[in-house]
Amino acid sequence: VFYLFNAKGFVEKSIIEIQKRTGGEKAVAACSGGVDSTTASYIAHKALGKNLLTVFIDDGLRREGEPEFVISILKKLGMNYKFIDARNEFFEALKGKRDAEEKRKAFREKFYRKLGEIVKAEGAKFLVQGTIAPDVIETVGGIKTQHNVLEQIGIDPKIFGFEVLEPLKDLYKPEVREVARELGLPKETSERMPFPGPALSIRCVGEVTPERIDILRKATKIVEEETRDVPSFQSFAVLLSDRATGIKDGKRVYGNIIVVRTIASKDAITAKAVKLPYEILEKISIRITTELPTVVRCLYDVTDKPPATIEFE
Ligand code: XMP
Repeated sequence: VFYLFNAKGFVEKSIIEIQKRTGGEKAVAACSGGVDSTTASYIAHKALGKNLLTVFIDDGLRREGEPEFVISILKKLGMNYKFIDARNEFFEALKGKRDAEEKRKAFREKFYRKLGEIVKAEGAKFLVQGTIAPDVIETVGGIKTQHNVLEQIGIDPKIFGFEVLEPLKDLYKPEVREVARELGLPKETSERMPFPGPALSIRCVGEVTPERIDILRKATKIVEEETRDVPSFQSFAVLLSDRATGIKDGKRVYGNIIVVRTIASKDAITAKAVKLPYEILEKISIRITTELPTVVRCLYDVTDKPPATIEFE
């Protein structure tokens, strides 16, 4: 069935719905700076004005320069915002965990406990989040536990101390982008590459430590820089937990392995590995293995979704 999505009508309807649901109570919006959460936060900002506090939680798992970028956008949009440094708390929550689902659940638990604290301190009653349709579909379908799905899998958000508002929960990525454009959000936001809520933690196979995240953060930056001009849905680095033999300064070392993944997709439900030009792959490999002293090997993932998922965990 062909139908035209009406972004303007959607925004108007969402604003009225949020005003009705909150009935004069305060709300907190969780914003990571991605297109989904920024769009949801901005709609809530339009609906609630001073009754909304938008928070960016620095969990220590963000890409390089990301906290500064997000704060600059929230400032530019004239939103009532707060920066929360919770880096140690998240690393503590993830410590010793190696299993993908266990890590996702530990992240989700910490994320909502932290938000519960903020909601309480603000005297708020609601949490606004940027959950979209595929997040719900994948979690309910048992593919993987997305960090931002609660009610749909029978978890009552009241245990964390709030009710949840999810203005985008029936939309897919292309529609969210249309809404972002309609709202006049900066291009850096409306056209931003998707980035998962649990951030680098799900691209760091095995244990998440500040040291391992630091390696992955630097590799991510290199991959993003070198694939900037290649059309893709997502392009990123993954740090494996296995090690491999290599040579550094003429000596044998047992070092880290980085996987590069660049995929094309419309809605993240299915995806195709992008045929990156060999010159780009070579450049990435050389940069990663020279700029990151512990990395001895760089691999390219040619697997589509399905059978693989986009992220490694
Ligand atoms: P997968 O790995 O399931 O990813 O093929 C599908 C899309 O969702 C993103 N992703 C997440 N986004 N919270 C999010 O907000 C999550 O827990 C999460 N896990 C995966 C992924 O980057 C891709 O765009």
